[in-house]
Amino acid sequence: MNPNQNESDVSAALLRHAPMLPRDRVVPVCHEGKRYWVKFREERKTLRHRILKGNALAALAREKDLLLAFAKRGVSVPRIVAYSSECIILTDHGPDLTMVLEETSCADAILRRVGEALAEMHAVGVAHGRPCIRDICWDNNTATFLDLEAGARLDAGPLRQARDLLLLVHSLFSSKPVYHKHAPAILEGYIANDTKNVWPVAVKIARRSYLLELLVKPIIWRQRQRGKTSSEFYAIPTTRRFIRAYDSQVPT
Ligand SMILES: Nc1ncnc2c1ncn2[C@@H]1O[C@H](COP(=O)(O)OP(=O)(O)O)[C@@H](O)[C@H]1O
Ligand SMILES: [Mg+2]
Repeated sequence: MNPNQNESDVSAALLRHAPMLPRDRVVPVCHEGKRYWVKFREERKTLRHRILKGNALAALAREKDLLLAFAKRGVSVPRIVAYSSECIILTDHGPDLTMVLEETSCADAILRRVGEALAEMHAVGVAHGRPCIRDICWDNNTATFLDLEAGARLDAGPLRQARDLLLLVHSLFSSKPVYHKHAPAILEGYIANDTKNVWPVAVKIARRSYLLELLVKPIIWRQRQRGKTSSEFYAIPTTRRFIRAYDSQVPT
């Protein structure tokens, strides 16, 4: 059978099946032995949600366009198998890093590759916007970036790209403390491929963001009182400290 014909049959079958799926935001689905992901248009239930997050139809169309544009530049993002005003159907790229870290004994090697992949993405002039570890998949070979909704850009400068790197490191420090020791691997991979000189910008941002650290101090204090030892707030001073310490040991 013509492979294009088969592909359009698969797209049509998945689009027919999508309305019968539970209406979660993102749902995995199996078709002819292959796994796909159906990402539905986000429902804006309240006026506040609508104002804060904007038009859901436009957001879905924007993500579709960004996925196509990132792929065209050679970035590893999920391939769009089908698209409608209700959902985007995507190829599967393995477990996301939160799951991978639970099981692997090669966390350093994988995170080094993730750092390299982020630098390669930046080298083609784009930024992800929020490359946290739950938005990156690993299939034993390739790191694939998901979820291009939050601030992805096709014309990104070093500031946005430095922000990407900091947010990736921050998301690792927001996860379980046992994974924190792998943070240097991300920077090793990134800095070795940093053709755009983004790393010095990331260091500058980390050094200058003391006001943010000051702002979250009372929140961290309250969380500590309640027995919490790890959170996105805790991860802010940890990320700043880590970036500054790493910078002081990187040979220039
Ligand atoms: N193409 C895909 N391959 C593998 N896992 C995926 C894929 N798309 C989504 N996922 C899984 O679903 C989760 C949510 O998807 P995401 O696109 O990030 O939606 P959301 O906007 O709700 O965060 C991801 O963190 C990942 O675990
Ligand atoms: Mg996500």
